[in-house]
Amino acid sequence: MKVVKETDLYIILDDVLSESEFELFREYTETSEYARNPKWIKPWDLADQMPWQTGETVYTRGKQMRPDDPRRAYPTGLAIDLLFDRIVGTKYYRKHLPDTYVTARTYLHPPGSGLDWHDDGGRFQGAYTFYAHPRWHASWGGELLVVENDLGRRLLPDKKRMQDGKTETVKESWSVLYKDDLSEMLFDNVTSTEFVFPKPNRLVFLKGGLWHKICLVKPTAAFARCAVAGFFLTDQDPVNFWRQGS
Ligand SMILES: [Fe+2]
Repeated sequence: MKVVKETDLYIILDDVLSESEFELFREYTETSEYARNPKWIKPWDLADQMPWQTGETVYTRGKQMRPDDPRRAYPTGLAIDLLFDRIVGTKYYRKHLPDTYVTARTYLHPPGSGLDWHDDGGRFQGAYTFYAHPRWHASWGGELLVVENDLGRRLLPDKKRMQDGKTETVKESWSVLYKDDLSEMLFDNVTSTEFVFPKPNRLVFLKGGLWHKICLVKPTAAFARCAVAGFFLTDQDPVNFWRQGS
């Protein structure tokens, strides 16, 4: 595993798994079950193809999940464990994300699919993505674009909405259908950007709150873009459904 680039906002690591581990990982992604989410997730552009996704696996730091939780807990005995081992073994995790829970879900992006600008909802300590397709090409699209300016959501305008018969102010929201406010905020404030090729066996950590997107996969791509992505959660996370005793 080698560090390709490291800043305060993200780190890019290559050759994350050994060759034989990557083969096992590929077998895992090829035999996993995928479905398309029946819900429209807001960062998906309505005109784009939808990605396919697996269920979620969680690195619980040894905590038991509730019996009714549909998620799988590490260790699973499957090749996804190899990735969790690498992630929590990195210096970056130990330095920036210690004692966080880690989620993992595999996404297949077929040609015509991508992910529009978003900030992962802001509640995560950070996020990561690992590229598991057997081969990629610089002309096939699917690049990860990252805004390096620390914008947060504070520059988004307040909105009025009607709730319980009253008009109230909603702060830091963006229009999820047309996203004009978001577009204007990005146009007016973004001065520094980076893009990352989805190179096989590459792992990217992103600091929480960064604006990013995935470019469309081109029709010429011979494979679906296959990435495992997840988040780092703290004990303060409001969604604690899976934690024992909570
Ligand atoms: Fe994201």
